[in-house]
Amino acid sequence: MAEPVHWRADGVPRSARFDDIYHTETGALAQSRHVFLGGCGLPAAWADRPQWLILETGFGFGLNFLTTWQAWRADEHRPRLLHFVSIEAYPVAREDLVRAAVAHPELAELAAALAAQWHGLLPGFHRLSFDDGRVLLTLCIGDVQPMLRAQRFEADSLFLDGFSPQSNPAMWSPETLKAVSRFARPGTRIATWTIARAVRDALAQNGFQVEKHKGFPPKRDCLRGVFAPAWTVRRRGPLPVRIDTPGHCAVVGAGLAGAAVAASLARRGWRVTVLDAADHAAAGASALPVGLLAPHVSPDDALLSRLTRAGIRATWQALESLLEEGRDWAATGVRELRTDGDVRVPPGWSPEGPNESFPADGAALWHARAGWVRPGALVQAWLRQPGISVRYGARVTAFVRADAGLRLIDPAGATLLEADRIVLAGGIDGAALAPALPLQPVRGQVEWGHAARGAARLPAIPLNGDGHLIAQVPDADGALWLTGATFDRDSRDLAPRAADTAANRARLARLHPAAADALASAFADGSAQSWVGVRCASADRRPLVGPLEEAAMPGVWVSTAMGSRGLTFAALCAELLAAHWHGEPLPLPAPLAHALDTRRLTRRR
Ligand SMILES: Cc1cc2nc3c(=O)[nH]c(=O)nc-3n(C[C@H](O)[C@H](O)[C@H](O)COP(=O)(O)OP(=O)(O)OC[C@H]3O[C@@H](n4cnc5c(N)ncnc54)[C@H](O)[C@@H]3O)c2cc1C
Ligand SMILES: C[S@@+](CC[C@H](N)C(=O)[O-])C[C@H]1O[C@@H](n2cnc3c(N)ncnc32)[C@H](O)[C@@H]1O
Repeated sequence: MAEPVHWRADGVPRSARFDDIYHTETGALAQSRHVFLGGCGLPAAWADRPQWLILETGFGFGLNFLTTWQAWRADEHRPRLLHFVSIEAYPVAREDLVRAAVAHPELAELAAALAAQWHGLLPGFHRLSFDDGRVLLTLCIGDVQPMLRAQRFEADSLFLDGFSPQSNPAMWSPETLKAVSRFARPGTRIATWTIARAVRDALAQNGFQVEKHKGFPPKRDCLRGVFAPAWTVRRRGPLPVRIDTPGHCAVVGAGLAGAAVAASLARRGWRVTVLDAADHAAAGASALPVGLLAPHVSPDDALLSRLTRAGIRATWQALESLLEEGRDWAATGVRELRTDGDVRVPPGWSPEGPNESFPADGAALWHARAGWVRPGALVQAWLRQPGISVRYGARVTAFVRADAGLRLIDPAGATLLEADRIVLAGGIDGAALAPALPLQPVRGQVEWGHAARGAARLPAIPLNGDGHLIAQVPDADGALWLTGATFDRDSRDLAPRAADTAANRARLARLHPAAADALASAFADGSAQSWVGVRCASADRRPLVGPLEEAAMPGVWVSTAMGSRGLTFAALCAELLAAHWHGEPLPLPAPLAHALDTRRLTRRR
């Protein structure tokens, strides 16, 4: 349930829970600029920095975020990437967000973009991405203290914006302010509108030098400070290193995983060379003609379910900003038939709630934010991003350390390339380069073909269950359809098998008998084709992102083991890898990020 907002007659939003208003009657934006941006010396402080990281307590209607984003857009010396991390226990409904923005026409465009991504805000982290991934908003939905504990990075600016300390003590308690101070480095500036004595004292005790500053009417004062502890700060473990001058990175593999990594790194200023043994992009498993993008749902909201939601959000943003809807992908929604009849979802999920998957009827789940995607189109779009070059026919057989970085070697023993860092994203063919990782081939076959557009008995909505059916995908030769898939562990055989075709047809007959009938002639006249690919899976079926062998080969990382969900995981894994390299806020809470990390397997061994 979204947090109810009480709109006063003068248009000011008020919280009944905290008996306080969200922002003042007049000049909310000027307030935000004066107290928070001005309080942290912005925009001047971020001039020409590669990235700027802001942590805020209390997202509310996001006015601080919107004014910061607006200032970033207007500044020709803006950092390449702006990270805004904000914690909010009680997110408001989208309608209220939109209503609040009406009062600020100068922010209308940004507020509309925010509202468009304001969905599915279940407890946890949500990475919203704007301006082609250069403005990244991480919404941490939950109580302030656990949300602060679930992440670790060095912030450049800290905004404290709870309701008043009297009505909202949890946001200003000594424990909360201590937890906030863990994000400060010497020089980090902090700003807030309250000058309450207890807040000033707690900040001072945690290493901030604070002073009262002239406030913005009707407030007389506000508070500004800087982290300058008189003692040496002891941290639990080293903080992530921030790379300020990205170099040259070689990415092995021009499939979904490699192309996504290339785009994430290029956006952060890396010069990226993608190497692929094939003579074109998306030649491996990513050559799949069309794939499903749909979340995993479980009654206990298991780890995989949470990971797939985060992954779909990341992919969705890429699809919306890079591809043409209706041609390269479609937000059709997906209907999932549960063969065991279990359509339970976590308690409280409903079509009216913040989730986007819910029981559709007695035997099916409806996934609203789901659809079909052409993997090849997404790979091509990622590889077209500035800063990326691609070399085909370049098979990598080894990496060696060189004086000035790392060298990639071809089958003849010659040097293909030298780079500062390498990311291995070679799917199952890349497994030979990563013997330390437990990667398993899983062969899969699908059947596909073309039908006359709008063919009556083929559903426009993709179906998932025991097998899947995607139909009505617009294509030059009519409407593309695809159904499958088989799973054969430890097989890399790319030859189609008649037995698999029969198995896929039998599955389709159970999933959608009318479609099976409609497609029978395509199988009879030979126009249906089989496509075979080999998935790359890890031992626990989750992707692997992290260093390959930290000690033996520093600088070589992997993003692989996408299994049967490359469309769901490639973009998320790429952003996670880039965030690790740059000491950025992670797109996932720490335990979920760990669940994807190579070190979960290598350290255990
Ligand atoms: C039958 C089937 C159905 C599927 N359906 C779906 C679906 O509906 N939805 C979904 O999300 N996912 C689906 N998948 C999974 C999806 O296709 C994969 O997860 C995804 O394509 C993997 O991408 P990747 O980049 O990791 O690997 P790949 O696409 O295999 O790319 C690896 C690339 O690395 C290159 N390479 C490897 N080794 C080297 C080397 N040493 N030197 C140079 N280049 C190298 C290869 O040439 C290749 O181009 C399906 C897979 C199969 C097989
Ligand atoms: C004054 S409003 C924030 C205004 C916001 N920064 C803006 O720019 O619109 C304070 C916010 O803190 C949130 N909040 C209050 N207590 C919280 C807690 N314990 N944990 C997380 N968020 C909390 C409230 O729900 C509210 O949205």
